[in-house]
Amino acid sequence: MDLRSVAPAPPDAILGLTEAFKKDPRPEKINLGVGVFMDDAGRTPVLATVKQAEEDLQREETTKSYLPIAGLPAYGERVAELVFGPGHEVVRSGRVRMAQSPGGTGALRIGAEFLRKFLPSSKAWLSAPTWPNHKGVFAAAGFGAADYPYYDPSSRGLAFGKMAEMLDGAPENDVVVLHVCCHNPTGVDLSADQWREVAAIAARRRWIPFFDFAYQGFGAGLEADRAGLLPFLETGLPVLVAASFSKNFGLYNERTGALALVASDPGEAAAWLTHVQALVRVLYSNPPAHGAAIVARILADPSERAAWEGEVDAMRGRIVSVRDALVQGLRARGVPVDFSFIRRQRGMFSFSGLTDAQVAFLREKKAIYMVGGGRINVAGITPRNLDYLCDSVAEVLRAVP
Ligand code: LMR
Repeated sequence: MDLRSVAPAPPDAILGLTEAFKKDPRPEKINLGVGVFMDDAGRTPVLATVKQAEEDLQREETTKSYLPIAGLPAYGERVAELVFGPGHEVVRSGRVRMAQSPGGTGALRIGAEFLRKFLPSSKAWLSAPTWPNHKGVFAAAGFGAADYPYYDPSSRGLAFGKMAEMLDGAPENDVVVLHVCCHNPTGVDLSADQWREVAAIAARRRWIPFFDFAYQGFGAGLEADRAGLLPFLETGLPVLVAASFSKNFGLYNERTGALALVASDPGEAAAWLTHVQALVRVLYSNPPAHGAAIVARILADPSERAAWEGEVDAMRGRIVSVRDALVQGLRARGVPVDFSFIRRQRGMFSFSGLTDAQVAFLREKKAIYMVGGGRINVAGITPRNLDYLCDSVAEVLRAVP
């Protein structure tokens, strides 16, 4: 093989869909693919608090010099408080260290690289199903992957018994990737009791929880959404968290994320961070500043922060009402499936239950784009496209049973 015979890579399962959508000339087209919030008009707006912070930054910024390898210190401090809660013991005791990262994906990758460096024979356990990029990120870091049961298609809920049983067999020092809230792609989350049970299993089996926290505020609220994480912080286990502000600050293209490393004492956490810094240096040297500067400003200013929390609440409120409208719209068309489960799922994603053949039909015949496996981004539904969407789903259920 030489470079001239390299065949094209397949398009990305999610971002590739956006490219295909953009090229589709049909005016009725609907994008329910990529997980990007959209308003009633189908736009992905810049949040008002973000605009304001950008104007302030524009006025006050004095340099574009490099950030430290672990990022803006003020950002790390504010983000730790947002992720773990103000005054949480891990923050007060100094046993958490933060590394700013280019988005949640960047945080996952540097976290995975760090773990792999010291635990070369560990596997990464991923929920079945999970965000497709988890597989790519952990494989790229050299991890062998294993699945743990998560979604139960028959109840359209959580396969908790099977999940707990499998995780109870995961070996010490294996890495278990968990979605803190708004599970991607299913929208099905654990209850507080179930989280406590999983934390107890982790403590017993001594595997390492690595949380993907990309949707804080989109499930039940900024504070409520971190609840799943908290029992793990009491186990004394290493805990990693990949946080993203793509969704809750709408900073998608600013690549604004953070990796939190929680150790059993401050010295250990500080040592881990030096290795993450060394990894960052050879991957992208140091992180981009703009998004982090925005987040740090908003979180530091009580009135801007309150305004931002209002914006997050409004995004969540729209998602909840769209879920309702979709369920009602489908019921009104007398479809043969009870779609009320869509109301129970949380966050932007719904595992619709549509088959790959139905997804393909909707894309080819109706210009409606969904991710393979039937994941839909409910935020892509607007008052203008709701009827067309419901008509099309009713039709596909008849045409492609
Ligand atoms: C998604 O799942 O659609 C988002 O997280 C965007 C992405 O990068 O895949």
